[in-house]
Amino acid sequence: PLPLIIDTDPGVDDAFAIAVAALSEDVDLLGITTVFGNVPLEATTLNARRVLALCGRADVPVAAGAARPLVHAQLRRASHVHGPDGLSGRSATLPEPHRAVEPGGAVRLLVSLLEAAEEPVTIAPIGPLTNIALLLAAHPQVREKIGRIVIMGGGLAGGNSTGAAEFNIWSDPEAARRVLVEETVPCVLVPMDLTYRCAVDSAWLGELAASGPVGAALAALTPDYRAHYRTALGWDGIVLHDAVAVAEAIRPGILRTERYPVEVECSLGPARGATLVDRRRQALRADAEGDVVPGRVEIAVDTDLDGLRAFILE
Ligand code: BDR
Ligand code: CA
Repeated sequence: PLPLIIDTDPGVDDAFAIAVAALSEDVDLLGITTVFGNVPLEATTLNARRVLALCGRADVPVAAGAARPLVHAQLRRASHVHGPDGLSGRSATLPEPHRAVEPGGAVRLLVSLLEAAEEPVTIAPIGPLTNIALLLAAHPQVREKIGRIVIMGGGLAGGNSTGAAEFNIWSDPEAARRVLVEETVPCVLVPMDLTYRCAVDSAWLGELAASGPVGAALAALTPDYRAHYRTALGWDGIVLHDAVAVAEAIRPGILRTERYPVEVECSLGPARGATLVDRRRQALRADAEGDVVPGRVEIAVDTDLDGLRAFILE
């Protein structure tokens, strides 16, 4: 099984993503690190531990990471989307954590898991990129242990937090820029343009709820999230952004990707946190001269939508 670490800010869709990985036989879930994001760090850490308890995975270590962004410390939240506790006000309905938080914090756990790994590790960041930027800046020696970083974030055609910016990137643009632009580790970016197309409807949620106790508990976390997406989608369904990215982390190639140069807008102006994906270069890349450097970031652009929904449900 493929070794995987998830960096997360649960979050309803994060909870689904964690469950997909925790219950999959295709991966060896080495650990989970948490970050501020949808709700403050204390809540995201407790939520991640509770979801692992729900999945019966007391073997998976959890460490808490950044409580604030790298440069501009103003906190962004999405409790209007995910509910006051990040799980539609229902976090406490999940089982209590089976295992204490690792001492030493997220970066230390990431370094020790990576250093001990015998094969390349996939990291799936599904929240703000603060922990990953800190890891790469402070411990460059671990880069060679990372196979791919599969990120949920960004928007090619606009955002969800602002007209320009998607939430995970907007929450810490300098960290996102460090990871996506300044570093050299292979990255896959799963933007909201694709995750929206993978939205699941009430029939899918009904099937999940009927599938057993874990499915029922996950479906029960969705009321506030569902209320938000009723407006955003114009129908009764939810967008499982983070589970789409984790599906790609688990099953490389389940999403179709194209390689483009990416920039992250870090000014304090109205486009702060926007991801600028330069799709003009694709044509240039085919240039026989071959002197155009292809983008380093693989952008997920398409998938078999029903196949992907079935994979997540399974
Ligand atoms: C991203 O923002 C968060 O609210 C979700 O958990 C997801 O990671 C979607 O824009
Ligand atoms: Ca998230």
